[in-house]
Amino acid sequence: MPENLLEEIAGQIETLKSRFHSQLKLVKDLGQLKELEASVLSKKGTIAQLNRHLGALDPEERRTAGALINQARTELQAEFEQSLSQLMKKWREEELAVEKIDLSEIISDSNFFAGRMHLITRTRQELEDVFVGMGFTVEEGPEVESDWYNFEALNIPPYHPARAGQDSFYLRYREPESMLLRTHTSPVQIRVMQSRQPPIYAVMPGRVFRRDTADARHTPAFHQIEGLVVDKGITFGHLAGTIETFTQAIFGPNIVSRLRPAFFPFTEPSAEFEITCTICEGGGCRTCSQTGWIELGGCGMVDPNVFNAVGLDPEEWSGFAFGFGIDRLAQMRHSISDMRVLLDNDVRFLRQF
Ligand code: DAH
Repeated sequence: MPENLLEEIAGQIETLKSRFHSQLKLVKDLGQLKELEASVLSKKGTIAQLNRHLGALDPEERRTAGALINQARTELQAEFEQSLSQLMKKWREEELAVEKIDLSEIISDSNFFAGRMHLITRTRQELEDVFVGMGFTVEEGPEVESDWYNFEALNIPPYHPARAGQDSFYLRYREPESMLLRTHTSPVQIRVMQSRQPPIYAVMPGRVFRRDTADARHTPAFHQIEGLVVDKGITFGHLAGTIETFTQAIFGPNIVSRLRPAFFPFTEPSAEFEITCTICEGGGCRTCSQTGWIELGGCGMVDPNVFNAVGLDPEEWSGFAFGFGIDRLAQMRHSISDMRVLLDNDVRFLRQF
């Protein structure tokens, strides 16, 4: 063995290191990286082979050479790990870039119209929001009703003149004239009172039907919202306050409400509620026939006969009810001259809201 064996080992280590560095730069995939690791750092790798020379050294030199070899192994191992994680990261990024799916949609048509809620739906939702804010729940009932729910339970007996005013669509089902498309949302009051015990604070929006010929102010299918409060000690003052609160919430501070005596079979006393004319704000115009007011709906204190129909004791409970047209309210709010456009589905009209 040459005397300068130790130096030679040190030299071999340096060569090995620089070869490792340049090979590392050329690695293209995980397989090549693993091959490089095996050829240099494994048990039979080039580093381990250096150990074969150790036997020819004296103990002192052997320790020095062993330390040099170990140090080189640690160094190269660390470099290998580092490149492994760098390469993994780079490959992952490349993979993601290739697999990327562009889910965004480019709308190049400047006339694109995304669609929106129908004015009636929006008005109904706004009304629901206002009443939910006042502590009411929102309830629904069926559009096909029996005579009992639509009339009898609401204190409208057969041959009562109030039936004539509500030209009904009857169904050919069961007894003649026993089933119909509901003419108002008031039957939902009955269903709510049957379904649970008071206190009840509920609004009931929905579609209703009457045999009206369509004109500027009527359509045979339209929408109403019903209100019902049943609790102890409810007064006409609570009714008036509720109507005023919702009127201002929907129409703003310039529009107020007033009540005028009226008749409905299911409330006693009954009233019609009017709001400041939204066109002239009270000054008088054609729409309000120069009165400054327009009628919105009916209301009153729940009639004892209605409480009896659902088995509630009128001595124990009191309440008020109201009902009005959602379409009519939207018509007034947006000064829509002809109701029929609400059913036409003409986007030139619909997209304005
Ligand atoms: N149901 C009535 C109608 O369609 C409106 C109405 C009036 C509802 C008075 C009520 C009420 O709850 O108390 O014309």
